[in-house]
Amino acid sequence: MIEIEYQKAVVKLADNVYEPAEDSFLLADVVLQYAYDGMRIIEIGTGTGIVSAVIRANLNPELIIATDINPYAARCAKANGIDVIRTDMFEGIKRLPIFDLIVFNPPYLPTEDGKIEGWLNYAFDGGISGNDTVEAFLGSVGDYMSDNSSILMVTSSLADIEYILDKMKDKDLCPEIVASTRYFFEDIVVIRATKHPEINI
Ligand SMILES: C[S@@+](CC[C@H](N)C(=O)[O-])C[C@H]1O[C@@H](n2cnc3c(N)ncnc32)[C@H](O)[C@@H]1O
Repeated sequence: MIEIEYQKAVVKLADNVYEPAEDSFLLADVVLQYAYDGMRIIEIGTGTGIVSAVIRANLNPELIIATDINPYAARCAKANGIDVIRTDMFEGIKRLPIFDLIVFNPPYLPTEDGKIEGWLNYAFDGGISGNDTVEAFLGSVGDYMSDNSSILMVTSSLADIEYILDKMKDKDLCPEIVASTRYFFEDIVVIRATKHPEINI
């Protein structure tokens, strides 16, 4: 069984589950900059659980839970010690709790052709534009935020970063690119979005 170690966290990989890559590691690094002890955190699309595992290995949140639509990912993250629910986005999160921090490394590849067989496709397939899953996320994320909550979300120049920033503003969020890295032919960025620009948690 192959394991990956990053930022004091160790996760086992599994078939049909996204293998942590540059985007995962960039998000994990940024989360460690903005998360702190006592937070209530949810990670959507946890995959192996690497980002949540990094949080757990370095911080002491009040709550950290995760979801993934892929049953193989949910099983893998659970085996890696993550409290995970196999569900679509926030569905299955009962009684609409509010989270201080919402973390998501979504599928963002534009995929008119070239879909991958099986559940692993959910790790990559952002629809024709690359933005479909992100737009679905932005449609419901506000229900789980207080005025002080923030989002840390990955996207890429392979999708449409400006479009995502505009969509966030349409939802009355204040987005800012807080990290970026060049990876082969794409720029991977992490967007931090809050309900108010002055919030700096
Ligand atoms: C790019 S992978 C990231 C995995 C992991 N967070 C990481 O950074 O290594 C995207 C993940 O989101 C999951 N996903 C895609 N659509 C989803 C949805 N509607 N609800 C929950 N999870 C979803 C995929 O199954 C996949 O595990």
